[in-house]
Amino acid sequence: MSTQDIPTRPTVCVFGGGGFVGHHLSALLARQGWRVLVPTRRRESVKALAVLPTVEVVEADIHDPAVLKQLLHGAAAAINLVGLLHETATGPVDTPRVRRGSFRYAHVELPRKIIQACFAAGVPRLLHMSALGADPISHSAYQRSKAAGEETMREAQKHLQVTIFRPSVIFGPGDRFLSLFSRLLRLSPVVPLAGGKARFQPVYVQDVAQAFASALLRPDSIGRTYNLCGPRIYTLAELLRLTARELGLRRWIIPLGHRTSYWFARIMELKPGRKLMTRDNLYAMLTDNVCGTPPDPVFACDTTLESVIGYLHEQDPRRAYTRHRAIAGR
Ligand SMILES: NC(=O)c1ccc[n+]([C@@H]2O[C@H](COP(=O)([O-])OP(=O)(O)OC[C@H]3O[C@@H](n4cnc5c(N)ncnc54)[C@H](OP(=O)(O)O)[C@@H]3O)[C@@H](O)[C@H]2O)c1
Repeated sequence: MSTQDIPTRPTVCVFGGGGFVGHHLSALLARQGWRVLVPTRRRESVKALAVLPTVEVVEADIHDPAVLKQLLHGAAAAINLVGLLHETATGPVDTPRVRRGSFRYAHVELPRKIIQACFAAGVPRLLHMSALGADPISHSAYQRSKAAGEETMREAQKHLQVTIFRPSVIFGPGDRFLSLFSRLLRLSPVVPLAGGKARFQPVYVQDVAQAFASALLRPDSIGRTYNLCGPRIYTLAELLRLTARELGLRRWIIPLGHRTSYWFARIMELKPGRKLMTRDNLYAMLTDNVCGTPPDPVFACDTTLESVIGYLHEQDPRRAYTRHRAIAGR
């Protein structure tokens, strides 16, 4: 079916739509005929999405309640994917006296503002991205803030139709996780690995996107929280070895003990530029990131990592353009 044959659906506003998951989800929603509005801080970083016929990318400060309300005007649903893995202590202090670069600002204050803007703009449906492991008593500030964000969303369920998703680590074209491994493995024949015994149940990005897109059409998902996990459990060391094998690299992987991992993460925090790892990431890995119970049958996430891992050879950002152009029929 070409995009011309699909009936046009109403608008969905995807906050964080310019990120890794956001790219896949926005493209999927566009393919299904939704009009998709993607606010971003830097339009330049999201330009690959702009080739899709029903996707509109706008530069906006989504922390401003008036801007939020304007963005949501006339939308049928909002999706919140905004999140960060490393918080920055820098950046201006905003109301209510929370730093803009903090977990609290992105994972708690922003969801609260989105809820209020949904009320104000009359948007009934709200899908929220949390994370597996979100826990109010976690040692990790990331996981605590994700838990507080979920709580804010649950309180809004009295008035809005909310669905919450909690995925394990997500893989697929454009990911940070395995792509970071690929970069590290290419750098050196010896790779020290912190937290190598931590267990994950990685889930494919297209399965995650499909879960969000399906939830928009499923009233039975309203008021529910879904854990999203792939079909297999791996330790971090196994994932690194799998990546090395796929890339044809023979590497000496040195698992670091508890204390060495801590100091390794501490040193990585001091590295200028983009953070690779922090102590908070390490704290998050103290608890297994697995679903434990059989996967929810409502949103099956059954794509194995092994069946798609070839994407690691294709990490050219221009490929997103090619994919989106194909969807747009250009
Ligand atoms: N990737 C995973 O393995 C994984 C696993 C579990 C849960 N999650 C959650 O899934 C969501 C999406 O993850 P992702 O991997 O797609 O992340 P990503 O690629 O880093 O994208 C995050 C998005 O959030 C926006 N954002 C970040 N900080 C912001 C801020 N302070 N103000 C406004 N916008 C901000 C960015 O918008 P701009 O376009 O403006 O830069 C970006 O589009 C996050 O909530 C994350 O916690 C991810």
